[in-house]
Amino acid sequence: MDKTLLVSAIKKGTVIDHIVKGQAIKIIKLLNLASHDKRVTLGLNLPSKTQHHKDLIKVEGRELTPAEANSVAILTPQATINIIDDYRVVKKFTCKLPEKIKHIIVCPNPQCITNHEEMDTNFQVNQEKKQVKLQCHYCEKKFNQDEITSYNT
Ligand code: CTP
Ligand code: ZN
Repeated sequence: MDKTLLVSAIKKGTVIDHIVKGQAIKIIKLLNLASHDKRVTLGLNLPSKTQHHKDLIKVEGRELTPAEANSVAILTPQATINIIDDYRVVKKFTCKLPEKIKHIIVCPNPQCITNHEEMDTNFQVNQEKKQVKLQCHYCEKKFNQDEITSYNT
């Protein structure tokens, strides 16, 4: 494979790489990247050495917090987070599935109390085989990752 970057290099910021095809747009929603004023570039369906196709997100001028990076893992557990400074990769780590996710996910159960009261959601995260399962602390219902469609921003 040639070494030409398909999406241009960034000077400083975060690259979320090896995202499972189809998940990048959800990650943009999850991290609320569209409403920040930092430049974000998105690569969809790029060729990959390890997967058939991958998605990639580059966020300029902003280092994702470990909590943000780990929340990405519920959508794509094997993504790589690269922190870039002065055009160099200064930190590289694989997302780690958190045990709990507070606030950012909206409970898909319309009857859940969290959809009727001003309160934070709280989900217990479990990995069953390759599927990420999220259990709401309040209504106790379990959801697959792909059933989560809205986020609190
Ligand atoms: N990258 C970037 N800007 C830079 C440096 C790197 O956007 N100034 C991006 C690269 O395009 C790549 C990711 O950050 O998507 C990781 O860079 P690097 O570690 O150099 O690439 P690989 O060796 O291919 O990474 P891996 O081994 O994790 O696949
Ligand atoms: Zn609930």
